[in-house]
Amino acid sequence: DAAEKGGYEHYMRKEIHEQPSALRQTLSSRLDVDRGEVDLDLDFPQGYLESLEEIQFVACGTSYYASQYTAQLLEEFADVRATVTIASEYEFEGGRDPWRTLVVAVTQSGETADTLGAIRRAAGAGARTLAVTNTLGSTVTRETNDTLFIRAGPEIGVAATKTFASQVATLALLTVAIGRGRGALSTADARDVLEDLRALPGAVQQVLDEEEQVLAAAREYQDSDAFFFVGRRFGYPVALEGALKLKEISYDHAEGFAAGELKHGPLALVSDQTPVLAVLTTGADGDETRNNLTEAQTRRAPAIGVVTAGIRTKSLDWALEVPAVGVFEPLVANVYFQMFAYHIANLKERSIDKPRNLAKSVTVE
Ligand code: AGP
Repeated sequence: DAAEKGGYEHYMRKEIHEQPSALRQTLSSRLDVDRGEVDLDLDFPQGYLESLEEIQFVACGTSYYASQYTAQLLEEFADVRATVTIASEYEFEGGRDPWRTLVVAVTQSGETADTLGAIRRAAGAGARTLAVTNTLGSTVTRETNDTLFIRAGPEIGVAATKTFASQVATLALLTVAIGRGRGALSTADARDVLEDLRALPGAVQQVLDEEEQVLAAAREYQDSDAFFFVGRRFGYPVALEGALKLKEISYDHAEGFAAGELKHGPLALVSDQTPVLAVLTTGADGDETRNNLTEAQTRRAPAIGVVTAGIRTKSLDWALEVPAVGVFEPLVANVYFQMFAYHIANLKERSIDKPRNLAKSVTVE
């Protein structure tokens, strides 16, 4: 067991630190930055992408948040309508030609019963289906028209970490493929996205090297009443994911909000005992989110902000920096949230790899 953990005390921490190599594997030989092209080995029929009317994501938990991130990428770079539905709530609604709706099941394990149920409903109604999974030979790969592997390597910890990063990276490649296939993304713009993607493993490594800072923040705030995570745009699913991770393994109360929503209710919960963690980077409308964070600080909440390196930020209790990688900065910010959740849980001696009441893959509806 100790050998399998490679010297780490928990699989989760090992898997957090494996993210640069997992991402390299995810991206390996799939992108040609100079040409602004990607190769995902997907055989969409001739003319399919041009005729595509909508992409519908179905997923649960962390995979749902990765899908929310991607829906925004698709709308920005591929000019296609994209919706995201929690798998257990999903009913297929397509236009007159259901085949022109691509339903994408995002599932690390490939065995989540809610997600399999949703994809079966979509396939039954005549939609085209695609699985995005980490698991070769999993059920979802047998029940969909195509499969895209995220190649993150095995993930043992119940809390999904490296697979979230690899899901978003894989789906970003898919976004570029669809954008190019539909003629919606220029070579120059594709190159920019792919350059940022190529820089991701290095950017994540730089954040991992800051773990001491995160541990110090975790020590300072471990006894808080609750933790709030806020973000906008690409920062919003990351806020939700940050809160899920923390509650899952520390058993503390943690909530994620769209930063603009704080003033519509959650501010009533804010006090000096509720740190607010905010995504303030590029791709997350940092200035507006900063204003929302100030509203919380006025109510004496400690403020932990993840910012783009080199951008001056005033009066945060903790400023955690991510390298400039455009729309992927919130994804890199998430690595701080993973480490924060890990250290809070570890200081409390929680059962980090196997939290109470949870299973790695949920095979009942
Ligand atoms: C994440 O930390 C959770 N353990 C959980 O939300 C998980 O993401 C969800 O159950 C979906 O699993 P899947 O990706 O294997 O379908």
